[in-house]
Amino acid sequence: MKFLVIGGGGREHAIVWKLSQSRHTDKIFCCPGNAGISELAECISVNDNNFDALLDFVRYEGIDLTIVGPEAPLSKGIVDVFEKNGRKIVGPNMKAAQLEGSKLFAKDLMKRCGIPTAEYKAFTSYLHAEDYVRMKGAPIVIKADGLAAGKGVIVAETVEEAIAGLRLIMKGRAFGDAGNKVLVEECIRGEEASFMAFTDGKTILPMVSAQDHKRIFDGDKGPNTGGMGAYSPAPVLTPELEAIVMDKVMRPAIKGLQSDGIKYKGILYAGLMIKENKPSVLEFNCRLGDPETQPVLARLKTDMVDIALAIADEKLSNINLEWRPEPSVCVVMASKGYPGAYEKGQVIEGLNDVKKMDNIFVFHSGTSLSRDNKVVTSGGRALGVTALGRDIRDAKNKAYNAVEKIHFKGMHYRKDIADRAINRFKMHDTPL
Ligand SMILES: Nc1ncnc2c1ncn2[C@@H]1O[C@H](COP(=O)(O)OP(=O)(O)O)[C@@H](O)[C@H]1O
Ligand SMILES: [Mg+2]
Repeated sequence: MKFLVIGGGGREHAIVWKLSQSRHTDKIFCCPGNAGISELAECISVNDNNFDALLDFVRYEGIDLTIVGPEAPLSKGIVDVFEKNGRKIVGPNMKAAQLEGSKLFAKDLMKRCGIPTAEYKAFTSYLHAEDYVRMKGAPIVIKADGLAAGKGVIVAETVEEAIAGLRLIMKGRAFGDAGNKVLVEECIRGEEASFMAFTDGKTILPMVSAQDHKRIFDGDKGPNTGGMGAYSPAPVLTPELEAIVMDKVMRPAIKGLQSDGIKYKGILYAGLMIKENKPSVLEFNCRLGDPETQPVLARLKTDMVDIALAIADEKLSNINLEWRPEPSVCVVMASKGYPGAYEKGQVIEGLNDVKKMDNIFVFHSGTSLSRDNKVVTSGGRALGVTALGRDIRDAKNKAYNAVEKIHFKGMHYRKDIADRAINRFKMHDTPL
């Protein structure tokens, strides 16, 4: 069979890698892909906003199934266009993707379905929002309603900071129309975890849990990034808590959408805050998380093609997910300057040495091939290095051993990925 994957980051490299292991796979295309993906798939440069052009390509090549990585094409309705034209595609349609595309849509659904989430109020008027913030006091959270590339949320420690956030979004229009509505949310403290599941709109199959490290510096300091590393499983999500998340979050969300006439197919991702052993939903995403997908898919044993086809054909109840028991750790290697303006075009050395190592997977995020066929950096996050280990500490050590073999000028990475999980095991005296 032939597949097309939309996207070009570490998440998509991990998806392509899993597809490439399937006995069903004859050929994979990826749009736009990256240097690492190009070793497993043919990278194409069709404008991924041009769904008609993508559809033409799929028809011309006789592609059997398309898998969408990022949220933007889902929110713009790529699934609707493909399905209308009888093409199999994995991802929620435009209506269903509002779950990520509009935070207010998601919050209203949660409220209606009794899904635990922070108290909130939505505003279109700056003055009313400011009044409300003053009344509530700090800490308080300000969120732009629409897609803002992970930058539309301000966790304000003071009322002044919150008002500055409101100004930025509502008056400065920092995120354009995404800030036409703003949510003001109660601030919940706790530990965050990612809970992702495959769903065909009826059956929901949870993946193993994961946690990521959003801040740029060790000790979770400095500005936010797309994610500097992740590990799986998340020790905070005990099996009991996972069962609660399925009962109180995932099933009610799919059911609630269904009763509104929306069939949700693809990936459902709940960003959770766990406080005193109780989950609360911070947000939903309608696609796999990056970098969490890298350590999660590294543990997946089940054939990815079987899963993807079962989602598209609404036969997910036939699938039994199997996972490797070994935990995994992913360390992201970033370009100089990231998460601000970053350098590009640095030659990456040492990738071949790492290829020989067992249970190490290097997924490329921002790389391309230079004219003389060298792998060079082209993004803020260049690579994710994922290792499986006997336990989480072993996985961490293996990942960093591999990281040390890779080099590019200006590179930087966190040295403490997964320490949070290791410390938690220590704290609870659970054997590693
Ligand atoms: N209600 C809340 N209380 C405390 N922190 C929050 C709250 N909502 C979001 N955050 C923090 O802000 C981050 C980003 O918020 P999120 O809703 O996940 O938006 P996005 O990922 O689209 O930027 C979260 O990962 C979390 O750290
Ligand atoms: Mg988030």
